[in-house]
Amino acid sequence: MNKPVRKAVLPVAGLGTRFLPATKCMPKEMLPVVDKPLIQYAIEEAEAAGIEKFILITGRGKNLMEDHFDHAFELERILEKRGKKAELELVQQFPEPSMIQYTRQQQALGLGHAVWCAKDFVHDEPFAVLLPDDMVLAEKGCLAQMMDAYNEVGGNIVAVTEVPREQTNRYGILDIESDDGKLAKATGLVEKPDPADAPSTLSIIGRYILQPDVFEHLDKQIAGAGGEIQLTDAIAATLDRVPFHGLRYEGTRYDCGSKSGFIAANVAYALERPDMADDVRAALKDILD
Ligand code: UTP
Repeated sequence: MNKPVRKAVLPVAGLGTRFLPATKCMPKEMLPVVDKPLIQYAIEEAEAAGIEKFILITGRGKNLMEDHFDHAFELERILEKRGKKAELELVQQFPEPSMIQYTRQQQALGLGHAVWCAKDFVHDEPFAVLLPDDMVLAEKGCLAQMMDAYNEVGGNIVAVTEVPREQTNRYGILDIESDDGKLAKATGLVEKPDPADAPSTLSIIGRYILQPDVFEHLDKQIAGAGGEIQLTDAIAATLDRVPFHGLRYEGTRYDCGSKSGFIAANVAYALERPDMADDVRAALKDILD
């Protein structure tokens, strides 16, 4: 029986340079897709997968996130007075205070370093990591699909997708031992390899289920590719003792860390919404015709 995954780490301390000036004072994870910030989608996906406790690793804009996941008394009172029940419900959807914590990553030294900041929170349990700027539009949430795989094989699991070979230098890439088309057993992984050296074209997206063993490597604070402390290096350091699998999730992934991915996500999520799909489709037709 694999130990249950109850905790999730959400690193939101990146500089978000690709979205400047929008991210000058606001973390990119507060950017909305349709009408909800990226961070809220990630929390909801994690809750649907059974996560009970969250920690946000913040940089600038910590207060904005704390305020977003808290009561807004004045606004609530006004909405109540005006009889706006549906809107009131929307602003009251957030985890209980005991479920959510925040800590600061004082310097943006890389994703591995951001996760290391959650070491005391994670303690000795398996945990999930969700990068809110990666969105997966799917019937069953990506993390919930990973939980199913974890219950079968345990160990470390990452969500993976095929990328064109010329793009391997943008992602963490798996070295595969066996593959049933859905779950790939990996013997290695490399961060951002040159296309010529990439062991496969199976790339990691921003969803992980990890064993606390990764902290042994993260404790050493060794900078990897791009001079950043890499989470993939920490996973690679446990390969001799922790099974490692990549799950080809069902659904469509949107890289909301890039402008075009973010715009595509807004269109795709809007087209899923019965209250606005027709209007958006008509507007798109006008633009494209
Ligand atoms: P990115 O590689 O997308 O970097 O980080 P970024 O700084 O957010 O964005 P750009 O490239 O400058 O536009 C991937 C994820 O890791 C988090 C980010 O918040 C994002 O969720 N991260 C990255 C940290 O929390 N700390 C870091 O030191 C680096």
